[in-house]
Amino acid sequence: MSRGSTMVALALLAALISGSEAAGFLGRQVSQGTCPNITNKEDFDAVPYLGRWYEQERYDIVFQSGMDCVNAIYSDMGNGYVEVHNTARTSYGDFTDIVGQAHVVEPGVLLVEFGGYVPALYHVLNTDYENFSSVYNCFEEGNYHWQYAWLLTRAQFPSEEVIAAGRQAFTDNGIDLDLFHVTYQGDDCPYLS
Ligand SMILES: *[C@@H]1O[C@H](CO)[C@@H](O)[C@H](O)[C@H]1NC(C)=O
Ligand SMILES: *[C@@H]1O[C@H](CO)[C@@H](O)[C@H](O)[C@H]1NC(C)=O
Repeated sequence: MSRGSTMVALALLAALISGSEAAGFLGRQVSQGTCPNITNKEDFDAVPYLGRWYEQERYDIVFQSGMDCVNAIYSDMGNGYVEVHNTARTSYGDFTDIVGQAHVVEPGVLLVEFGGYVPALYHVLNTDYENFSSVYNCFEEGNYHWQYAWLLTRAQFPSEEVIAAGRQAFTDNGIDLDLFHVTYQGDDCPYLS
């Protein structure tokens, strides 16, 4: 990242932290060094990607670990835009949600916008549309890079094969899975119907 992008990165960071906390959708990891060289899903198609996804794993740090039951519901808004409706349960047991919109800005990359926050990029490393999606974002600041990673599945309780396929997309891109945390999903979660 160029020095000229620093302020953008800082604004993006602030937006990701605040926006994601509001959304119960934060999956962040801070490490030294540069971002990995990733490959996005080049033939990504937003249409079969619509619908409900369950967050199964994400990067996390201790103070965010309370958010669980994370769901993302993507709906067609027309004009190439997708409505993003994220829901979760807070550490206090309350339902929380946030609605935004996204559109594809380059193959496999969406720009996600929540009102009042700086837009954030969402890289689809891989998805088969029917089982898993491996979503990632990374940017550099000084000697550090900030990584966001989410493993989403169509099923509330996916098979181990599906989880393995989703993880493979991260390992194929040199992304460390050791720091992934499982997101609780269960029938006591406050999902939207
Ligand atoms: C990333 O990949 C591109 C294209 O293959 C290559 O030119 C570049 O040197 C790589 N960068 C790093 C840091 O590996
Ligand atoms: C989704 O997973 C099921 C069960 O593992 C498999 O039969 C199906 O082919 C997968 N779908 C795609 C698009 O790969």
